[in-house]
Amino acid sequence: MNESPSPEGPPRAAQHFAPGLFEGRTAVVTGGGTGLGLEISRGLAHLGAHVVIASRSEEHHAPLLEEATRRGWQVEARTLDVREPVSVERAAAEIAESTGGVDLLVNNAAGNFLCPAERLSARAWRAVLGIVLDGTFYCSSYFGRGMIARGAGGQILNIVATYAWTGMPGVVHSASAKAGVLAMTRTLAVEWARHGIRTNAIAPGPFHSDGAAERLWPRDGMRERMEEQIPLGRFVTTDEVAGQCLHLLSPASAYINGECLVVDGGLSLGRNMWAPGETRGETRGETRGATPPESPESPESPEA
Ligand code: COA
Repeated sequence: MNESPSPEGPPRAAQHFAPGLFEGRTAVVTGGGTGLGLEISRGLAHLGAHVVIASRSEEHHAPLLEEATRRGWQVEARTLDVREPVSVERAAAEIAESTGGVDLLVNNAAGNFLCPAERLSARAWRAVLGIVLDGTFYCSSYFGRGMIARGAGGQILNIVATYAWTGMPGVVHSASAKAGVLAMTRTLAVEWARHGIRTNAIAPGPFHSDGAAERLWPRDGMRERMEEQIPLGRFVTTDEVAGQCLHLLSPASAYINGECLVVDGGLSLGRNMWAPGETRGETRGETRGATPPESPESPESPEA
């Protein structure tokens, strides 16, 4: 969702940051032509970075390239499938050569859909693990090697989800992959800190994109029911998530390393003993869930 206040105003993600904040920096954003990746790329470009967007589909590049030409942003695009290590290695070498070195890598490319675990095929599992877990590692590895060789430090930012640690029905593939990415984030944060490379993650709550709406809340009323569970009462906007990405990538976060910033309006904290409002005497229908058996030996007890 493009949430800029006017066509030529600053992208909302960038509006709280100093102009020129990322001048002289080269940023690579995987999946940078659509959804969250697009808003991160627009924010970085507006604040002076040279942005390279990398994704599988050339048609995803066109809108940002067109906007960049109009606004005088430095943006280039590269067709890349992050699941192919040889292609990622070549892209990392060529981008480093043509730009003088990559400073910021945002591993944003992802694949997801709702599917009960018992119906998930091996190929479907592989497709998501390939993009999210393998792709994040290949990019971190090859762009990271470039950062290490150059000796000027750098940053890696990974997009995860709170279900990396809570788990989530319907997305066992994505949750497992994101859990791996979170472990990778923390590992690289320690391993590469001595090279001046900070590695962090961000865990957004649900936000609208056409792809997410089609794949993750495809039926009428699903979004509304999800919003009811969010303490702040609404989805986070793409701009708000992108803004926090810019914050983590900025010098204001120079001492943040190995962290995962949750941007979910309190959603992942919401499963408490009382429903929201209950402590003020409000009730929301009958309490859900199984009644515990009176005693384990009771003949009336439901089977465990
Ligand atoms: N439910 C169950 N299985 C699904 C599925 C769904 N909604 N979508 C795809 N699959 C399965 C396919 O059936 C196939 O398995 P099979 O051969 O056993 O039938 C397997 O996943 C691979 O599908 P394919 O379309 O060939 O993979 P791909 O590599 O072209 O696409 C995806 C990867 C599946 C992740 C695709 O959704 C994608 O490209 N997504 C990118 C965008 C995205 O998801 N963004 C995140 C929005 S929240």
